[in-house]
Amino acid sequence: MDISGAKEKLKKYGQEHVLKYYDELDGEAQKALLKQIEETDFSVLSHLDDAKRGDERGQFAPLAAMQRDEIIRREKEFHDAGVKAIQQGKTAALLLAGGMGTRLGSDNPKGMYDIGLTKEVFIFQRLIENLLDVVNETGTWIRLFIMTSEKNHEASVAFLKEKNYFGYKEDCVVFFKQDMAPACDYEGKFYMEEKGRISTSPNGNAGWYSSMVRAGLDKILEDEGIEWINIFGVDNVLQRICDPCFVGATVISHVSVGAKVVKKAAPNEKVGVMCLEDGKPSIVEYYELSQEMMDAKDENGDPAYNYGVILNYLFHVPELKAVTDDRMPLHVVEKKIQYVDNNGNTVKPAEPNGYKFEQLVLDMIHQLDTCLPYEVIRENEFAPIKNATGVDSVESARELCKKNGIEL
Ligand code: UTP
Repeated sequence: MDISGAKEKLKKYGQEHVLKYYDELDGEAQKALLKQIEETDFSVLSHLDDAKRGDERGQFAPLAAMQRDEIIRREKEFHDAGVKAIQQGKTAALLLAGGMGTRLGSDNPKGMYDIGLTKEVFIFQRLIENLLDVVNETGTWIRLFIMTSEKNHEASVAFLKEKNYFGYKEDCVVFFKQDMAPACDYEGKFYMEEKGRISTSPNGNAGWYSSMVRAGLDKILEDEGIEWINIFGVDNVLQRICDPCFVGATVISHVSVGAKVVKKAAPNEKVGVMCLEDGKPSIVEYYELSQEMMDAKDENGDPAYNYGVILNYLFHVPELKAVTDDRMPLHVVEKKIQYVDNNGNTVKPAEPNGYKFEQLVLDMIHQLDTCLPYEVIRENEFAPIKNATGVDSVESARELCKKNGIEL
């Protein structure tokens, strides 16, 4: 794209300020900016009205979870089916590590964070060790995909290589980068992260499937006969990954997706809750739960909306083909966005200062017909690290690790 084409595109979207520092840039940087203007999808701005309106939701109804008593009763059946699927190479793991982890406040990828006290225990290491338990139990290496973003790819890859993948087999690990979306201020003007670069951020935790296909990795799924993908967030240092019981229960139930859930700690706990929406599986956010929904009871007299999701899902690959980009809504999310101010200085805001555009996993679930919410014990499998201190922090995760006998 040449400069006049860039000006035209920017004018159409009211973004002429993007060229404010253009004349100060050297030739290479000018070219790079023109390329970014050409390639960036500015139409995301049409979603800004959604931010004011809020997301429109359908009719909610409860979706019963498979609870611990049933899981314990059928443990052998589930475990055997899961081991079989793993040993047949039908199961892969996929780490969602494309996020920016801004709340944790580290400049490195979140997985590089050391939660150890007497020795180094990196977040990546904890997750890989959890997966290695299953590899050792089943005698089978599980394909591990790791999604990074343009922002943290090099650092993540170099770190894991340097650490020898914490004992994982190098050949089994495949990295790919997720797609990016521009970020803007509250008036809908794109921020500039550098004088010659529009601020961009990874396009949300549901960007994984389309990004994976764009990277040509669906070929690996086909070639290796992978039928199930266990996606999991980088935050939760206790979660089990591809654990045979969960895999087996999902396979035996013939659902499109299995979702690990935990019993809510309180009716108003800030966690998304598994449910039906217009008859299809979905997740209702904590702030969307009406009093009536919080008071609703199931046939046993227990709260009907009682199971929160923990970003650990087992997707059935054949059904994912139907979850195409054009069916995935784009959410407008308020976040902290680093930018170059009018004086040319880089600002790292302490509070949210604008919007990013993200696809969310809940919309993937909603595209599918069936889902098995599968209860796991919170104290054993849910230790999210979102913040440096306080709730869902390094401190709280350390406590939970200690309770589970993990040396730090
Ligand atoms: P979060 O929703 O906590 O977002 O991600 P984040 O960007 O990591 O953290 P904050 O909000 O800036 O503090 C939940 C999981 O989804 C992944 C994250 O890496 C984490 O595992 N994720 C999130 C992606 O892989 N890509 C994204 O675009 C967003």
